Parts: sequence; C-alpha cells; structure tokens
Amino acid sequence: MKKITVLDFLKSKKEGRKLVLLTAYDYTFARLLDETGVIDGILVGDSLGMVIKGEEDTLSVDIEEVAYHVMSVKKGVKRTFIIADMPFGSYQPSFEKGVENAVYLIKSGADAVKVEGGSEVVPFIKKLVSSGIPVMGHVGMTPQYKNVFGGYRLRGRDRETEEKIKEDAVSLEEAGVFSIVVEMVPERLGMAITESVKVPTIGIGAGRYTDGQILVLYDVLGLYRDLDIKFVKRYTDGYVIFNNAIKRYAEDVREGRFPTEENVYD
Ligand code: KIV
Repeated sequence: MKKITVLDFLKSKKEGRKLVLLTAYDYTFARLLDETGVIDGILVGDSLGMVIKGEEDTLSVDIEEVAYHVMSVKKGVKRTFIIADMPFGSYQPSFEKGVENAVYLIKSGADAVKVEGGSEVVPFIKKLVSSGIPVMGHVGMTPQYKNVFGGYRLRGRDRETEEKIKEDAVSLEEAGVFSIVVEMVPERLGMAITESVKVPTIGIGAGRYTDGQILVLYDVLGLYRDLDIKFVKRYTDGYVIFNNAIKRYAEDVREGRFPTEENVYD
C-alpha cells in the first residue's frame, strides 16, 4: 500500500481528481478512514477543542494536545496523509517557537502541518518549508481569528475582503504551501481562489469548485450535534444509532440477556 505524499496532492489538481479529506483524532477512527482506501488526508484539527473537549471553540487547544492525538492517529494509518493543525498560541509568540512546535508535531507522526492566516503568516510558512516541513494554508473564515471577526461568519462577501482573501491565498502559494483550506466563503470566491493558485484548494463551506473537500468526521457521522451548519452534510445519524445500541445493551444487562453462554468462560 503506497503512502500518499504532497506530490499526490499537487498531481491531483493537474489531473482534475478531487481530494477528499476528513478530520480524525484517535486510533480507531483513523484506522477506519485509512482502511476505506478512499480518503487522501486526515487532519488532526484543532476542532478537537469542540468535538473532543466539548469547548465552544478551538482556542483552548494546545500543542501537547494536538501531538497526543497525532500519535494516536498515526498508529491507525498506513496510507493516508496526516496533517496536524498548529493550534492557537503555538506560533504567535515567536516564529522560532512555532518551528519548534511544528517539529514536535512532525516527530509525533504528522506528515505536514496546517497554519491558519494570510500574508501575516507568510514569513513563518517560509521558515517551516525551508526547515523541511510541508505546510497546508488556511484562509477565509479561520476559526482562530473568531474574536477578530466577531464570531464564526461567512467571509469575503464584500469586494475588499474578497480581494484580501484571494491575495492571501496567492501569497501562501508563493511561500511554499502544498495546498490551501478555504473555509466559509461565497462559492464564487472559492472558485476564484482555485483558479488563482496552482496548489490544490480544499473547501469547507467554499462551494463546489474547489479542488477537494474537507469536513469534520463527527459532523459527517452525525455524532456532533451542538451546531447546525449549512455547509455540513450528515451521511448517517450516528448519534441515534449509537444511542439505540447503548440502550439495547443496558436493557439486555437488566433483563439478563447479556452476557449469554457465548460470552462466558468455562
Ligand atoms: O480544525 C479543523 O478541523 C479544521 C477543518 C475544519 C478545516 O481546521
């Protein structure tokens, strides 16, 4: 089984093959995704702050937590490319500290790191790439900037912001990223960015014309129910399915139907 690399990401755009990514945070789900054989990349996202820790946003996540989840994901993966999020505070104090933290994530098992932001993070991204660390960019509605934006809201509706986000994407490409996540922007901006850069764009709420898509795994499986987001599609109702399974287990125990003969040792 051939491991996916940055070259496969770059080739996919040339060949017009859509990239498919999901988040994962643990061994069991990472192995499940890897063994489907249809997922190009697993992002160990700082969305773990919400879906794993139960926080309202991603801001509390620190580098040790991301590294811990990367180590777990790595154990379940043979083929899929693993990207680790640089969490809030892991590079803002100094880019030197940021390089140190990115190295820590790579040593923990990530193949690349993702950095949120536009032209302001270009010097940092150049440092990472020249240190041998592949970087995925992230523009548009970047959740780590939520307090600056005044909450999670569609970005790029007005001309000025639209131009700024497009310029950001181009500057990230020049800095050496191998792909760019484009989050929560109007479809026409998702398309314009995709046409403006040679590296693949990975959309999340950025419309139909990006080079690939990413979603949070727990949203796709219908397990995380705190938010109802327009750009998410639930492919199953995991919450109801698991809820029923747990209730059947409890009922079986109480009614004496579990354990049965096949579950006991002589
Ligand atoms: O943290 C995350 O899961 C992300 C994706 C949703 C793009 O950044």
